[in-house]
Amino acid sequence: MHYGQLSQEHINQLISICGEAHVLTDEESRQHYSHDYTEDLSFPPEVIVKPASTEEVQQVMRLANEARIPVTPRGAGTGLSGGALPTYGGISLSVERMNQILAIDERNLQVRTQPGVITQVLQEAVEEKGLYYPPDPASRGSCLIGGNIAENSGGPRAVKYGVVKDYVLNLEVVLPSGEVIWTGANVLKNATGYNLTQLMVGSEGTLGIVTQIVLRLIPKPTETMTLLAPFTDAEKACEAVSAIFRAGITPSAMEFMERDALTYTLPHVDDVQLPLEEDTAAHLLIEVDGFKAEVLMEECEKIMEVLEAYGAGEVLLAQSQLDKDKIWALRSKVGEAVKQHSIYKEEDTVVPRAELARLLHGVKKIGAEYGFQSVCYGHAGDGNLHVNILKGDLSDEAWNTTLKEGIREIFQLVKSLGGTLSGEHGIGHVQKEFMDVIFQDIELQLMRGIKEVFDPNGILNPGKILPDRVPEQTTTPASAV
Ligand code: LAC
Ligand code: ZN
Repeated sequence: MHYGQLSQEHINQLISICGEAHVLTDEESRQHYSHDYTEDLSFPPEVIVKPASTEEVQQVMRLANEARIPVTPRGAGTGLSGGALPTYGGISLSVERMNQILAIDERNLQVRTQPGVITQVLQEAVEEKGLYYPPDPASRGSCLIGGNIAENSGGPRAVKYGVVKDYVLNLEVVLPSGEVIWTGANVLKNATGYNLTQLMVGSEGTLGIVTQIVLRLIPKPTETMTLLAPFTDAEKACEAVSAIFRAGITPSAMEFMERDALTYTLPHVDDVQLPLEEDTAAHLLIEVDGFKAEVLMEECEKIMEVLEAYGAGEVLLAQSQLDKDKIWALRSKVGEAVKQHSIYKEEDTVVPRAELARLLHGVKKIGAEYGFQSVCYGHAGDGNLHVNILKGDLSDEAWNTTLKEGIREIFQLVKSLGGTLSGEHGIGHVQKEFMDVIFQDIELQLMRGIKEVFDPNGILNPGKILPDRVPEQTTTPASAV
């Protein structure tokens, strides 16, 4: 693709669309919008625009499409695969000013919202009405619901309640051309043509810009019970995970944390005393929820039996809401804490749940071969293991070259176990080079075809998801041309 050059004239037009205060070109802003939470990557946009309405998004897209200027949509920049990085420069289009919850429909248990609402704000607004929006990514206090749609985010509760896609009923989307569509209808079932709603969810801002979202809600459970179980053998902990489901229990969270995940995180959380025995290799954090405490107690008893059978040590049952909150604060800070420890790369592997122990075993084996330390944690009940690879003592050379082979081996292992590259962080910029491990050419061609239908000029979030094309071999030697 050949892109147009952003000129002062374009910037003036953007100012006339969004207002001077909402079009930024200063160095500090460009640096800020050059990052998300992915590694230490930085790709500054040439300009940041913050439209306040669907109409303003449309006008920005018309201008960009006509001038062939790349546009990278952005939520709060908490993504972990570089989806919001403007790798081709151009415009960073932030939806942060589109931050209104438009309607909570208590008759139908639905909410209609703009994309720039913080996920936790949305959750709390519906909870005031006794309703529940379960998806809870670790960054829920800062991430935006629009970004969650783009990435099809998950979080701990996905194991019982599903991920973002399971709640999205209908989307208003501005296409790269500037045209606006609704993808579906505000209904719980819909067998009317191709499912554009679900195509949009998880498309990482490459097909359109979501400007309104209709989500379904459910009644909020009133009771929870939270357990923390230590294991001396991390693989046994992984085996216990699927055994609990086989015993007929579906916990509302089933998280795994390796020892290092905890030891790196404990200093970042105030007031949490956790008896960490010397031989503890991993913990499972398990929660059940519902409406009757006695039912949950029975479920906990069954879970304890399975845990014991798989060699768990003394299980901690959180006694108060405060204790539960502390345990969850610890869990949700793991990602950040591990990153502060070392330069890192984060993989978001996912396999069928019962293959988790084999995945963990294989990751450690590959780490030993390539000389890297990994800290593993994540949503064990979903078979979704976050593998944080630490640079540690690896040379820059090994980090930038041979490590890629190791990561490729991890993904080959994932594939052999029936899994795939990403459970919830997306492909974005950092995982696209591994898409060929999972997909055949024909499958990638279908995806490229979809991208071309929506965005024939390739201006919307270019360079994401699909692997870069290998330059075609010419039959004529370059010197003869
Ligand atoms: C978590 C994020 C990193 O599970 O997905 O903490
Ligand atoms: Zn996660």
